[in-house]
Amino acid sequence: MAKDLFLFFAFIFSIGLLITALVSIFLKVPYVPTRRKFVEKLITAAKLTKGQKVYDLGCGDGRILFAAEKITGCAGEGYEMAPMVYLLAIIKKILGRKKSKICCKNFFKADGSSADVIFCYLTPEILKKIAEKLMRECKKGTKIITHTFAIKSFTPQNIITDKKNGCPIIYIYKI
Ligand SMILES: C[S@@+](CC[C@H](N)C(=O)[O-])C[C@H]1O[C@@H](n2cnc3c(N)ncnc32)[C@H](O)[C@@H]1O
Repeated sequence: MAKDLFLFFAFIFSIGLLITALVSIFLKVPYVPTRRKFVEKLITAAKLTKGQKVYDLGCGDGRILFAAEKITGCAGEGYEMAPMVYLLAIIKKILGRKKSKICCKNFFKADGSSADVIFCYLTPEILKKIAEKLMRECKKGTKIITHTFAIKSFTPQNIITDKKNGCPIIYIYKI
């Protein structure tokens, strides 16, 4: 009986992993979590103030939103389509009693008009597409924060570089 139950859950888990891998191929963005130390750097760079609305497009396990909520009290909204990663974010939200909303939805269908700060850790190709959408619908003054990859069509307001090698690591844009 216990063995059957184990096999059942192992099967469900494998199916979940397979679907997650297929969704990641379809989205053209794999799940690569931001390193924990780096999350704080991003939040400091965003200069969040209480009551601001924070978005993470492709929020993964929600770590940026949950850390922002813990440090600044800002409740955010995250979008994640890979099923197992979304499930992980939901588990973390429940266990951590977080207020931030996690949506299993394509961020291209999200409405960014009420966002004050938007975090994106995406590939240059997807950043290019999402930048056009953000430009159309975000209010003036909305900050877009990317790391590792820049939005080529935008001029950054500020670039934070790595102290060791001087390479750009965080890009801050303002609509
Ligand atoms: C590089 S990971 C970053 C995760 C998280 N933001 C972090 O910094 O730890 C990008 C995430 O975006 C998700 N993603 C990619 N395209 C998406 C889309 N169109 N809608 C929702 N999520 C998407 C992927 O499944 C992946 O988990």
